[in-house]
Amino acid sequence: MFNSSTSQPTLLLATSNLGKIGELTAILKPLSLRLLTLADWPAKIPEPEETGEDFLANALIKAQYYAKVCGYPALADDSGLMVEALGGRPGVASARYGGGGTDGSRKLKLLREMVGLKNRRAKFKSVLVLAGSGAEYLTWSGELAGEIAEKPLGEGGFGYDPLFWEPISGKTLAQLTLEEKNRISHRAKAGQAMARDFEAVRKFLAGCQES
Ligand code: IMP
Repeated sequence: MFNSSTSQPTLLLATSNLGKIGELTAILKPLSLRLLTLADWPAKIPEPEETGEDFLANALIKAQYYAKVCGYPALADDSGLMVEALGGRPGVASARYGGGGTDGSRKLKLLREMVGLKNRRAKFKSVLVLAGSGAEYLTWSGELAGEIAEKPLGEGGFGYDPLFWEPISGKTLAQLTLEEKNRISHRAKAGQAMARDFEAVRKFLAGCQES
């Protein structure tokens, strides 16, 4: 299906979240990989169930599943928002907070849960997993500390970004440009750690090509 004559190692971004795809594409640029996304497949691939108890377990489920189905080494991100006063919720369930719904309904639910709470400290966490069709994998993680704003602000980013106030910039993540968010975000920190492991990543991808 794809031209594999290029010497660039190929990596599949194992997510259909357009926000994550945009961010990961920019974050991984220094690695000079040939990036594929799920949109490169002609038919929609059914999503795996995220049954893991933590971010690592869910990222591993997604990376191994898409690597197997698509036949390319896959990078999955599992991430979410952890609010201190809510005992770390929504956490791994960030994408499913309050049942189905939309980013908008999840933000409203969070604001309702925060009513009257003085402690608004929160953090985002991202765990990246690179996996092939075998059991081996590489993983990196990153976190970003901030606070839950009283109301949504800004138009950029995705998910909870308009509600996540970052103290150093003094803005919500949705008020930052993509470049600004990609310098500080949880996903950027995980991606930067991956880029520092450049040699291990290349070796892993080469091993996937041979097997
Ligand atoms: P996942 O696809 O199960 O990893 O879902 C992650 C969910 O966490 C997303 O759908 C968002 O709701 C939230 N999330 C993760 N990273 C971010 C971010 O950078 N900004 C805003 N929301 C995020």
